Amino acid sequence: MGNSEFIPVCEPLLDGNEEKYVVQALRNGWISSSGAFVSEFEERFAAYCGRRFGLTTTSGTTSLHLALLAAGVTSGHEVILPDFTMVSTLFAVLYCGARPVFVDVDEDTWNLNPADIEKKITRRTKVILPAHIFGHPAEMTSILDVAKQHGLAVVEDAAQAHGALYEGQKCGGMGEIGCFSFFANKLITTGEGGMLVTDDEELYDRARYYRNLCFDLNAPRDYQHRDLGYNFRFTNLQAAVGLGQLESIDRYLGMRRATAHRYNEALRDVPGVRVPIEQPGCKSAYWMYAITIAPAVFGMTRDTLMAELKEKGIDSRMLFKPMHSQPVLQARGLADPKPYPVTERLAETGLYLPTSTSLRAEQVAYICEMVGSLGKGR
Ligand SMILES: Cc1ncc(COP(=O)(O)O)c(C=O)c1O
Repeated sequence: MGNSEFIPVCEPLLDGNEEKYVVQALRNGWISSSGAFVSEFEERFAAYCGRRFGLTTTSGTTSLHLALLAAGVTSGHEVILPDFTMVSTLFAVLYCGARPVFVDVDEDTWNLNPADIEKKITRRTKVILPAHIFGHPAEMTSILDVAKQHGLAVVEDAAQAHGALYEGQKCGGMGEIGCFSFFANKLITTGEGGMLVTDDEELYDRARYYRNLCFDLNAPRDYQHRDLGYNFRFTNLQAAVGLGQLESIDRYLGMRRATAHRYNEALRDVPGVRVPIEQPGCKSAYWMYAITIAPAVFGMTRDTLMAELKEKGIDSRMLFKPMHSQPVLQARGLADPKPYPVTERLAETGLYLPTSTSLRAEQVAYICEMVGSLGKGR
């Protein structure tokens, strides 16, 4: 291994029946949103998550938007979400006109800190929206308990957590609604796309209604629209890819977990590097293998490490910036000036390393060797 091969952070793997199913869809002409593959993919993925209903959407972002619409979130409401997440979680709240209320994350799991949730609940709170970040399950027992005590719905952002388990239950399968993304860097992909899963037929129907321009679900089409709807429909071509991917999901999960274990073994003892922690009772999907750097101990900052790795043909990405201080919120008077120390530290010191499902053991060894050789302990 050397500099000649650039290792990207993530490449999709499409090594099953994806092409065969896409060709079938192309040949039979069902290429738009009415097609047998769409409902088959919805049913099978929902069943994989242990849920009754699945509803495909155009992206993880729109699945979150639909979930909050279905849960009745509107202006005047508040939604509790982690400060450390992808901006889509926040945007879904803003699309509904609701106020985002942030909670800092746990040091070890990087997920919504349950101890802080209760303090943030007001009479306007409607939904708790945990994200299973980097594929590690959020602490769902406490989150569901608090939600129950206060009569709130829980919408799980499981966009990074396909197949992850919390006490034996699938992420996305525990709250009222679970939301997934099928973007190309996710464990399974449909190019772009998303899905929400639920056991609640009413929520499913409401999401279905909003997804298709608020056409009445149970009456003949009269082209009268009582609510503001969206076209978030998924295509049969995407579902063809998704069905092929779904056949491989557990194999892919095993491959990503094997990669994470290899990284852990090689990086655990590098001074100044903190490797991800998998909590007891949890099985992480390791969406991306993310670490933090203590610059004084490691010998260089996160940004310098990323630049050095790039020189050696290794791609990496910094972690998300805190949500509470995003410029989009400043402009709307919704920014929260309070400190969120854990998220702020992750944003400053964290990065993720290449984690393609197909990443080979010798590539992981090369990356770890380079990280180790750049640190002070070399
Ligand atoms: C936590 C989280 N939520 C939501 C999304 C949105 O998914 P999409 O990119 O499919 O809109 C992502 C995408 O990476 C994500 O990481």
